[in-house]
Amino acid sequence: MSQIIKKIAVLTSGGDAPGMNAALRAVVRTGIHNGLDVFGIRRGYLGLMQGDMTEMKVDSVSDIIQRGGTILQTARSREMMNPEGQKQAAGIIRARGIDALIVIGGDGSFAGAECLRKLGVRVAGIPATIDLDIACTEYTIGFDTAVNTAMDAVDKIRDTSASHERCSIIEVMGRSAGYIALWTGIASGAEDTLLPEVYDGNEQALIESILSNRALGKTHHIIVNAEGIGHSTALAERIEEATGIETRASVLGYMQRGGCPSCRDRVNASIMGAKTVEWLVEGKTDFIIALQSGEFVCVPFDEAMQMTKKLPEDQVGIAGRLRR
Ligand code: F6P
Repeated sequence: MSQIIKKIAVLTSGGDAPGMNAALRAVVRTGIHNGLDVFGIRRGYLGLMQGDMTEMKVDSVSDIIQRGGTILQTARSREMMNPEGQKQAAGIIRARGIDALIVIGGDGSFAGAECLRKLGVRVAGIPATIDLDIACTEYTIGFDTAVNTAMDAVDKIRDTSASHERCSIIEVMGRSAGYIALWTGIASGAEDTLLPEVYDGNEQALIESILSNRALGKTHHIIVNAEGIGHSTALAERIEEATGIETRASVLGYMQRGGCPSCRDRVNASIMGAKTVEWLVEGKTDFIIALQSGEFVCVPFDEAMQMTKKLPEDQVGIAGRLRR
């Protein structure tokens, strides 16, 4: 049987994540190794709709494995949310003779790919988001680097918080997913971790936690707050008013999306990029590569899109129980 996949295209889409470049490098080099023509699409779906793509060679991805961001650049495309935009994107894929499209991104990017799949485009997804909120997989490219960045920042803030005997609120990314907050809270030994999925808005409990810790002799109090709850500066003012303890807020923001990818992100991104292309060459199509129970597996795209994910309750419990 002759090989169906001869020409592939790859794009990065949505919020960038450290390790996207490592995945791209693996896609390009594995593709070329298997005799494929590989095209890189600039600025995600926005670039796809404009036909903004270029052939990638082995050297196109030299010296990028250690770089954060994405050399293809990325965008959040509103046009891709409407049927006209989706048809236009599928039309470009067909017109350019592309046999399969690889999407490196998060849930919004995969929603776009699912629309293209329904229009007859062969797709493959590589999960890349600092949020870790893709249901079919236990790992997403960029999460490890982002939580390490957040953990380092909390360690630094803890030093000054202890010196000044303050309460410090550190706001980390995650609009609707609390994974970054949960792991940063556990890794940095935060006294309180506020998660969008769990937090009930009970500020009185928070105030009592701060006061009882102070009574036990703790010189500082670290609260990790998720972006989805937000309003850290206003919360700090209310806490200071209620407790009389100086309270400061730091919003870490986009620094969590940048920087050199960690070893784990570089290696996993390389494996995911390489395996995705190998599976396409073998004839598999319309899948998302996922890490499940320590194995990289191929999850059918439509099934993956139906899955849901919850914060692990045991980890949430542990974060609470290790406070003191
Ligand atoms: O999805 C990654 C993420 O950084 C989220 O944690 C955050 O809520 C969102 O992107 C911010 O998006 P934007 O780059 O559009 O401001």
